[in-house]
Amino acid sequence: MNFGPFVFIGVFCTMVISWWTFVFGPQVQIGGMQPGATVPAGDVYPVYRTGAQKRGAEVYRANNCAACHTQQVRPNNLGPDIARGWGMRQVASDTRGRYSVGEDYLYDYPVMLGTQRVGPDLANVGTRMDEKVVLYHLYDPRNKDLPGGIPASVMPPYPFLFKTQKIGRGPSPDALPVKVEAGYEVVPTDDGQALAAYVASLRQTAYIFEVPPPPSGKPMGMRSTNSAPTNTPAK
Ligand code: HEC
Repeated sequence: MNFGPFVFIGVFCTMVISWWTFVFGPQVQIGGMQPGATVPAGDVYPVYRTGAQKRGAEVYRANNCAACHTQQVRPNNLGPDIARGWGMRQVASDTRGRYSVGEDYLYDYPVMLGTQRVGPDLANVGTRMDEKVVLYHLYDPRNKDLPGGIPASVMPPYPFLFKTQKIGRGPSPDALPVKVEAGYEVVPTDDGQALAAYVASLRQTAYIFEVPPPPSGKPMGMRSTNSAPTNTPAK
């Protein structure tokens, strides 16, 4: 018997079904997504990234930060991300969190969700670190004299995002507080500055229709039994 037509139909159906599920389905669901409004304030969300932040996203991509860092906070039923504090909303003394939704990435291309978590999730790192601390971390993640330094960190330093220059009339405002030869200072390059601007801009803190504020005062998704696991290496 000639099985050719069956094999053909089998392969064809497999292709069509996977295209339908993974390409067409998502396109119908989120392909035409528009910016929404925050709840309850009604501000437009998300907002565009600035030019520097966009450039920083390219630096992030070029250096493959996504090899070790994700940018997605999973809902409670899929993992302890919120309990770990990655979905935490640490602004205005409101520490309830939320998980990531498609709308958070509306203006990102490509979306650098990441698949491995050697380091912590960065979806909300902007609520934990400002540009300066991000720069310290990029310059020397293990330097405990710099804020945010972790001696046992396995994150590589990125010295090529910085340059050592002669101090001119006075020290630059963005010079890092590290010791180099007398008369010289370490400042971020344009790429370094842009990357820091991008990383410090990462925050998914707005409540929107899909992820409205949790009922009053309750920390969302904090587990009552286990203490929150942490990703920070022991000092
Ligand atoms: C080899 C894996 C690896 C790579 C590559 C890597 N990191 Fe990290 N990163 C880590 C680890 C591990 C930590 C946690 C320990 C620490 O804070 O240094 C971390 C921590 C961080 C933190 C602090 C997060 C927090 O919540 O405290 C930031 C910000 C960060 N990384 C940014 C970056 C950026 C930007 C890049 C790309 C230029 C990058 N990382 C590349 C492993 C990595």
